[in-house]
Amino acid sequence: EKGGYEHFMIKEIHEQPKAIRDTMTSRIALGEDVKLDNIEITKEDLEKINKVYIVACGTAYYAGVVGKYVIEKMAKISVETDVASEFRYRDPLIDENTLMIVVSQSGETADTLAALRLAKKSGARVMVITNVVGSTMAREADDVFYTWAGPEIAVASTKAYVTQMVALDILALHLARLKGTITKEEGEEFKKELLALPEKVEDALKHKEVIQKFASKNYHVKDMFFLGRGVDHAVALEGALKLKELSYIHAEAYAGGELKHGPIALIEDGTPVVVVATQEKIFDKMVSNIKEVTTRGAKVLAFATEGHEEIEKSVNSALYVQKTHPLLTPVVSIVPLQLFSYYMALEKGCDVDKPRNLAKSVTVE
Ligand code: M6R
Repeated sequence: EKGGYEHFMIKEIHEQPKAIRDTMTSRIALGEDVKLDNIEITKEDLEKINKVYIVACGTAYYAGVVGKYVIEKMAKISVETDVASEFRYRDPLIDENTLMIVVSQSGETADTLAALRLAKKSGARVMVITNVVGSTMAREADDVFYTWAGPEIAVASTKAYVTQMVALDILALHLARLKGTITKEEGEEFKKELLALPEKVEDALKHKEVIQKFASKNYHVKDMFFLGRGVDHAVALEGALKLKELSYIHAEAYAGGELKHGPIALIEDGTPVVVVATQEKIFDKMVSNIKEVTTRGAKVLAFATEGHEEIEKSVNSALYVQKTHPLLTPVVSIVPLQLFSYYMALEKGCDVDKPRNLAKSVTVE
C-alpha cells in the first residue's frame, strides 16, 4: 500500500505533481473560463462582498496565509486569514457581505466546523476547500471546492497542503475574472504558470541528496529558525511546523523584517537558519537578513529561485527551485522543506507517519 516507499509521508510527497494536476484538470484550460462545478457564486453576488475571511487550522491555515496574498492581489478584496479556534471565540464581524472560505483536508476539524457554522448563522456566504467528498463541511457549505489530492494517510500534511494552495490560486483567478480586476491576458498568463507547476514540483523533488546531507549534519540541533517575507513567510511557517511535528525540533518562523524586533537575540554561533528567498522584489532584503544572522554565527540553508546563485556567497548551503509566478512559488518551495523535515525525522529515528501526540483529524476541541 506504500507503493514501494518506506513511509506514507514520502510516498505522498512524491504524489504531489499528480495531486496538483488532478486538482487543476477540468477546472482550468488555456483559452477557457475557469470551471468550478460546485461553486455558484456570481458576478452579482461578488459585487456585494466587501470582506473575505479564510479560516482553518494548522497546515490548512498556512495555506490560507498564502491565499490571502493571492486573493488580495488578484481580486482586490480585503482578506483576513485566521485560525479557527481564535476566530470562533472573538466575535468576528460577519454579515451577508462577507465571504467565508474554510480550508480543511478532512472537512471534519472541530474548530473549523464551528467557525463555518458561526459564519453561516451570521449570514455569510460559506465556501469550503476540502479533500473529503461528502465530509460534514462539504455538506454544510454553500460552495465546495474539492482538492483531488487522494487519501492522505500520513499525519503530517503534504499533498493536501499543496492542493489547498492551488485551489486558492484557482479561486483567486476565478474571482478576479468575475470582478474584472485582471484582464483576460493576465488570466491566461497566470493559468500557464499554474499548469506548469506539476513539472516544477517534480523538479524540486530532485534535491533529495543535498537535503539529506544537510539533515545528517544538523539533526542533533535543539532549535531552528525559518525566515521569509511575503508568501515566503507563509512557507517558512509551514516549514517550521513540519519540522516540529516530525522531528520534535523546536522551530520558529519569522517574517524577515521582524528579526531586529526580538528574535535576533536568539541567534548564536552555529544556530541553523533556513531562509526562503524566492521573491524578486524583496530578494535584497532577504540577503540583508542573511547577513544579520551569519554575522552572529548562524549556519544558513537558503532556498531561492534559479538565477539567484549569487546567494551562495552569503550562505553555507543553497538550493534552487524553478522560477514561477511570484504568487505561486510556495507550491514549489515547500517541497524541499517537506523533504528536509522528513530526513531530519529519519535521522532522529522518529515515527514519521505517526508523530507523537498528534491525530490525523482533530474532531474535538
Ligand atoms: O483536516 P484539516 O485540514 O482541517 O486539519 C487541520 C490540521 O489539524 C492539520 O493541518 C495539522 O496541522 C497537520 N498535522 C499538519 O501537518
